[in-house]
Amino acid sequence: MDANKNILENLYGSIDQPFLFNEFECRKLESYVQNVIKLGNGGYYKEHSVDRALLRTKYFFGERYTYGTQMMQKGLGMERLYPLGMIDPIPLWLYLHVINPLIAANIVQAGFINSAVINEYQPGGCIVSHIDPAHIFDRPIISISLFSDSALCFGCKFEYKPIRCSEPVLRLPLPRGIVTLLSGFAADKITHCVRPEDTTNYRAVILLRRVLPDAPRLLQLSTLLIDPTFNLIPTTTLKRKVSYEKVPDINKDILQKAYQKYSKARKTKRKIHGSISKVGSGRKTYFADNKTYEDKPYNINAI
Ligand code: OGA
Ligand code: MN
Repeated sequence: MDANKNILENLYGSIDQPFLFNEFECRKLESYVQNVIKLGNGGYYKEHSVDRALLRTKYFFGERYTYGTQMMQKGLGMERLYPLGMIDPIPLWLYLHVINPLIAANIVQAGFINSAVINEYQPGGCIVSHIDPAHIFDRPIISISLFSDSALCFGCKFEYKPIRCSEPVLRLPLPRGIVTLLSGFAADKITHCVRPEDTTNYRAVILLRRVLPDAPRLLQLSTLLIDPTFNLIPTTTLKRKVSYEKVPDINKDILQKAYQKYSKARKTKRKIHGSISKVGSGRKTYFADNKTYEDKPYNINAI
């Protein structure tokens, strides 16, 4: 019991929920989010900026990282950022109407946020228990919950088929428009999730985070080609000696046979089509009747 009280204290000590956006501003942000969804459905964004699952769609801006089944090597700490340039940039409206107000309210420092994700959930949609990877994202993790009230649960264990969730250590209400900041204990030491039963209505969340400068990134060949520090031709291969003794002797017989076969084929071809070949300094003309004709100026009277 005491341990749980301690966890709760640690949780409350590392969660902040300022109310920044009023009804009017919520509606404005929601219409911008709807526009993002429209653009996404219209194929406006780059292929990897959008990730669709059954009841939730993710729109990535600035950065994206591998997670869940997308990971070649699974496990915590194996997440990787996508190669540079593969994801759409953070849209201007997010700077103007979300990030700037957060800076003005002293909630984040200018220049902190370099990644934005919009999660769109259909009723019953969820996100399984996880910790936002600490080697990818700085803290705090900032979110703005929109369209309907929901809740973020801490310390749940998920079970699949059918999807079930154990009682949470804490169920943190997410009223529409709330800004939530997770840092320290809440971000690093305990998992969080959104249970299907807490997504009673359509909902979206804007996640604002800072990707660490040394976060590991997947490499693309084109990324390597423009990297001035990448040596395309390693000097070790340039120094490697070619061993001429190992080159096999060319078999004269084989060459001769191949040549005979080739010249025979040429003669046959000549018989059929006729040709002109150069003999010594003059030219002889061969025709299909295999007669040779001297290469004389054409004499019209001889015909
Ligand atoms: C996440 C996350 C919470 C939410 O996408 O990492 O924790 O409110 N989302 O949807
Ligand atoms: Mn998360």
